[in-house]
Amino acid sequence: MARPEVTLIYAQSIDGRIALLGKRTQLSSHSGLVLAHRCRAESDAVLVGSGTVKIDNPQLSVRFVSGNQPKRVILSSRLDVPVSSRVFENASGVLVVGTKGIADTTRLRELEKVGAEVKLVNSSAKSTIELSEALEVITNFGVRKLLVEGGARVLSSFIRERLVDRVVVELVPVFLGETGVASMGDLAVENFVDCPSLKDVEVERLDSSVVIRGRLSS
Ligand SMILES: NC(=O)c1ccc[n+]([C@@H]2O[C@H](COP(=O)([O-])OP(=O)(O)OC[C@H]3O[C@@H](n4cnc5c(N)ncnc54)[C@H](OP(=O)(O)O)[C@@H]3O)[C@@H](O)[C@H]2O)c1
Repeated sequence: MARPEVTLIYAQSIDGRIALLGKRTQLSSHSGLVLAHRCRAESDAVLVGSGTVKIDNPQLSVRFVSGNQPKRVILSSRLDVPVSSRVFENASGVLVVGTKGIADTTRLRELEKVGAEVKLVNSSAKSTIELSEALEVITNFGVRKLLVEGGARVLSSFIRERLVDRVVVELVPVFLGETGVASMGDLAVENFVDCPSLKDVEVERLDSSVVIRGRLSS
């Protein structure tokens, strides 16, 4: 089955970290936020993992530009994202993907009660949601263009499984050091030639940041 076109977008420090551990960290420049919101408006849905919902509590809406409000997708095996999260304030158009046999049925009912759609798929070998199955469900949710915003575990999974078409990274001139969360975890590569890389790279200055875009080579 065809999957949506997937774009990863995130902001990282020059030492490759996307946030301070456990803290909401506004890394993007103002122009970076405008860019991110433009990308949201051009997408059918925005996806994040449960970690980002719990730590950042994002709305995942378009506010810095005028345009289409995308659907929102959350990956949460047990469905243990708080229903009081801002993303559920207007829960129609929100899909929560959980894992069969692990998802909490009480949570499932609570999420449906606030208006979110919930779908369960199989778990992967790494005991997280099987992404290719999740992408099938997301396609059936009416999504052709999907913007994946993070956090680190979700970004790494999409790249490791080569389920990415485009990457947009805002490189912010700040160091976060070892209390920062590395943008990438395990990518299951042992040799340099097998490392995922970008082609058709474009570079743009945005305020004091640098934006790098490219297509992920398979
Ligand atoms: N700088 C940026 O652009 C940016 C953007 C977004 C987030 N962030 C930061 O990222 C941090 C959160 O990152 P994180 O790595 O802790 O959390 P995350 O990537 O947002 O969420 C990870 C969680 O998603 C669930 N999940 C289900 N299926 C998965 C799969 N196939 N692959 C990966 N995860 C899956 C798992 O939790 P379950 O057990 O619930 O399934 C997993 O622990 C926060 O500090 C936030 O501020 C930064």
